[in-house]
Amino acid sequence: MSEVQIFITRKIPEPGLEVLREAGVSFTICQHREDDGLSQSQLLEGVSGCDVLLPLLTEAVDREVLETNPRLLGVAQMAVGFNNIDVEAATELGIPVSNTPGVLTETTADLTWAMLMAVARRLPQAHNYMVAGRYKLWGPNLFLGTDVGTGASGRRKTLGIIGFGRIGEAVARRSLGFDMRVLAFDPYAREAIEASELAEWADLDELLAASDFVSLHPLLTEETHHLIDEARLRQMKPGAYLINASRGPVVDEQALVQALKEGWIAGAALDVYEDEPAMAAGLAELDNVVLLPHIASASADTRGQMATMAAENALAFLRREPALNPVNPEVYETEAYRRRIVGSS
Ligand code: DGY
Repeated sequence: MSEVQIFITRKIPEPGLEVLREAGVSFTICQHREDDGLSQSQLLEGVSGCDVLLPLLTEAVDREVLETNPRLLGVAQMAVGFNNIDVEAATELGIPVSNTPGVLTETTADLTWAMLMAVARRLPQAHNYMVAGRYKLWGPNLFLGTDVGTGASGRRKTLGIIGFGRIGEAVARRSLGFDMRVLAFDPYAREAIEASELAEWADLDELLAASDFVSLHPLLTEETHHLIDEARLRQMKPGAYLINASRGPVVDEQALVQALKEGWIAGAALDVYEDEPAMAAGLAELDNVVLLPHIASASADTRGQMATMAAENALAFLRREPALNPVNPEVYETEAYRRRIVGSS
């Protein structure tokens, strides 16, 4: 298969590259340094000369990019989220798109819980205090936080999960050890929630009003853009915390800064940002936040498996076989796909 070419936008973990080497396909990596992004013209140039594109969530795979190469056999994204790809245009043009679901579920749920615990018990603030050499004497008022479990009062806390897909469900599973009540809202998973022993169905208003912790796990779509806006933030309890390890634009970040400054809610832990990597003005100066650089799936094991999965999808595209993890399976029924496959063989 050495005449074909995969264009990898930025360096992916070694296990994925190993899969491609073993298959004997040639690939180019546009950016090798972790913090170098691609310009749109680099992306266009790379796509125009390749058979398969393997992008990350940082690349805008828009209609222009997709239209640039009639030989393009597929887009094998290394991420479960795919809001950076114009999937509608891809389907129209007969281009299959794949993602990397499943392998990052547990790792992302772990990090969600790490964030929840960290913001409730003020871990970053306490850590900074230690490394600044400010710890002089134990005191009963040092870094008082909020109980996640029942604590001394015995009051069970309520966890509200918005988006009850694989990750939302894994987050719910982890709450068992904390004896929490779990509410879940997801208009596309009502039956699954009602059948689940982990969570109770709640509509969004009810969930926001009742939860001590609200954790966000929806896909980013037009429907979920700014799902948590000023009005929704005002519906939360004053002592509540917001956790977001999904996509930044699900939250109106400027409204969140106001909510945190004015005490409408107690705190927030964010792994993602509306205009990533930038943060809304004022967010970084707040004392009631935990801010992470989009690392929810960042264990070496999981990132290796994501890269492997993306590489395997890329190989399937090269073989003109359906993706192992299709995002737009309907594409295989289209005339545009058939024309593309024949035209490029
Ligand atoms: C994804 O896969 O969509 C995450 O945001 C990064 O792992």
